Amino acid sequence: MVEKAVKQHGSIDYLILNAGISMWSRFEDVTDTSIFHKIMDVNYLGAVHCIHSALPHLKKNRGSIVAISSIQGKMGMPFHSGYAASKHALHGFLDSLRMELNDVHILTVMPHWISGTSLRENALGTDGQKIGLSKRRHTKESISLDVCSKAIIKAMIRRKSEVAIPFKLNLVPWLKLIAPGFLRKLVLRKLKSQVPPPSSRP
Ligand SMILES: NC(=O)c1ccc[n+]([C@@H]2O[C@H](COP(=O)([O-])OP(=O)(O)OC[C@H]3O[C@@H](n4cnc5c(N)ncnc54)[C@H](OP(=O)(O)O)[C@@H]3O)[C@@H](O)[C@H]2O)c1
Repeated sequence: MVEKAVKQHGSIDYLILNAGISMWSRFEDVTDTSIFHKIMDVNYLGAVHCIHSALPHLKKNRGSIVAISSIQGKMGMPFHSGYAASKHALHGFLDSLRMELNDVHILTVMPHWISGTSLRENALGTDGQKIGLSKRRHTKESISLDVCSKAIIKAMIRRKSEVAIPFKLNLVPWLKLIAPGFLRKLVLRKLKSQVPPPSSRP
């Protein structure tokens, strides 16, 4: 893909790492642990391979890498253990590259739940299959694609290292540091309306 893009357009200025898959299952209910490999393959190794191929071109143009991560790169989340782990891996990788590379800008994007995409529908369930359409609603706190895209473009123009969308998510790392118990309770409360009913659990 990188070779094709360079052949067609002459160079690469931006590499947007958007591909991602999620999960929705308590760890102890998982019957097919290959979901952890699949999620790591797409969310972390997908970024590693794309950056490796595009890097020489990005360096030439002092270009940008934009990784669509998640606030789950900064904290764990129930039902998402493999997803949160993959985003933590992505953050560690990008933080390291940021110190190695002076001539390429790296932006890590950490959005809240986004409404209007298929991430939830495509999420892998206990048996490793997509959970498909569910009645689980996004909370009213979820952000729209429009708000998310505009915030990403603004951060790209300003060549920021990280952007949390909405801004209040910047509190997460601080809360984790000074009040981790409170943060856990807050997350559990927010997730309550989205948790599968106990009857659907084995
Ligand atoms: N939705 C949210 O609430 C939310 C919140 C925070 C962060 N994010 C992040 O935002 C990014 C985009 O997710 P989304 O919400 O737009 O979900 P989505 O609608 O399910 O889109 C996922 C995208 O990833 C691509 N993809 C999945 N597996 C792939 C693979 N093996 N190889 C190549 N491409 C693959 C899909 O391509 P195809 O359509 O061709 O399969 C699709 O374009 C993800 O990295 C996700 O972690 C989403």
